[in-house]
Amino acid sequence: MATEQNNLPAIIAHCKEYGFIFPSSEIYDGLSAVYDYGQWGVELKKNIKDLWWKSMVYMNENIVGIDSAIFMHPSIWKASGHVDNFSDPMIDNLDSKKRYRVDHLVEGYCEELLVSNKQLADEILAKMDTLLSNDDFVGLKQLIIDNQMKCAVSGTCNWTDVRQFNLMFSTKVGSVADESDTIYLRPETAQGIFVNFLNVHKTGRMKIPFGIAQIGKAFRNEIVARGFIFRMREFEQMEMQFFVRPGTQKEWYEHWKAARMQWHMDIFGTDKAEKYRFHDHVKLAHYADAACDIEFDFPMGFKELEGIHSRTDFDLTQHQLFSKKKMQYFDNDIDEATGKPYGNYIPYVVETSVGLDRSILCALTHAYQEEDLSTPEKQDARVVLKFPIKIAPIKLAVLPLMKKDGLAEIAKDLMNECRDSFLCFYEEKDSIGKRYRRMDALGTPFCVTIDHQTKEDGTVTIRYRDSMEQERVQLSDVKGIVLKALHN
Ligand code: GAP
Repeated sequence: MATEQNNLPAIIAHCKEYGFIFPSSEIYDGLSAVYDYGQWGVELKKNIKDLWWKSMVYMNENIVGIDSAIFMHPSIWKASGHVDNFSDPMIDNLDSKKRYRVDHLVEGYCEELLVSNKQLADEILAKMDTLLSNDDFVGLKQLIIDNQMKCAVSGTCNWTDVRQFNLMFSTKVGSVADESDTIYLRPETAQGIFVNFLNVHKTGRMKIPFGIAQIGKAFRNEIVARGFIFRMREFEQMEMQFFVRPGTQKEWYEHWKAARMQWHMDIFGTDKAEKYRFHDHVKLAHYADAACDIEFDFPMGFKELEGIHSRTDFDLTQHQLFSKKKMQYFDNDIDEATGKPYGNYIPYVVETSVGLDRSILCALTHAYQEEDLSTPEKQDARVVLKFPIKIAPIKLAVLPLMKKDGLAEIAKDLMNECRDSFLCFYEEKDSIGKRYRRMDALGTPFCVTIDHQTKEDGTVTIRYRDSMEQERVQLSDVKGIVLKALHN
């Protein structure tokens, strides 16, 4: 039985077996760090997206959503700094030709060293942090050589120099393959929001402070892609850029820090609070004046789930410079200090950016449980996904005890009554016990069994996923019971 700390392989196997997540291109042996969402994974994903969208766009009058294109003008990535700076230091092993992200190579080495010499492991990690923050590539290589860090494939210490490797995927647009046709798959959705700032501000009559939200695909050529859907080459982000008056960014940054942590608590419950923590960035990116991560205790330990960044006016200023279009906002509110309108300025931006796939891994980590149900008489166990009902892919399973005697017809009527309100699942094969277990494995909170008594007195057995308790309720009450749980 997998324990909570080492259950990632069990979660991966479960996701594949039950139609949540498949390795991409599996019949061709897969494509590293790319995954496909199956029939239940896509529902889980959609439910999480809907909750985020509602919390951002529906619950805030001053936030609207957009859906910008993945392909964008190549100058955008020059302006944003991605062409020059969106890279990681890499090192190649000359014997195996395997490429490593330097920080991952050193961290992997230190993870093993921790057991025998924690002090040395800590020293190496601290030294690596200093070298990384100084972009000291010669020092990084020396650190690797001095400690005889070996390639996992060749087992040798024969390394190239450390080099920067850009993480953006490029492709060509048009038919003439020269330099000017190179465009990039966006590595973040945020830039699609910045370049639409003026469009949305004008057409939406948006008044500062206001936000623009977007959910969409992003692409990064991650060199060491690990941890299932934690680090992928094609993934989805849910980002919101909040445009504020310069000087107020600190207060909005604190506001969004608290609001975003609350969103995670609202979905999974405050009793799960110990699985989340803030990690404040000490070394800030050149464009930020404050930044933190919300970290989650994934099966492989605490890691970044969401970033909250106070990005100053860097992005809009850069786009003004490169596009030669004014990115200014006229603020006619009166500044109490001067008694005059604030006037023209480039807004500051506070960004919230959460990975959708990481949110799904977070949901699976919370939900996945292996329960021992053995009694003195019988060995028994079940795997159950205890999703909160709002994100559970299927809300209700409708199970006629048998197909004949009109039970299937009653079940189908119930399906028809409920299907416009939430996703239901109909199953008539196998014993009821097996069907319950299958629904537990899919995370379905309610199962309803239609039996011969239903024909006599109009009642059904409702079975609750988490407690496995069963009770008789009126067939006509079933839809209301599910809706009440869904909207509570
Ligand atoms: N616009 C800011 C931005 O993109 P980021 O910290 O690079 O910031 C934001 O990414 C979030 O996107 C991360 O917190 C993470 O949840 C998700 N993310 C980033 N790279 C990812 C990857 N390779 N695979 C899956 N999710 C990723």
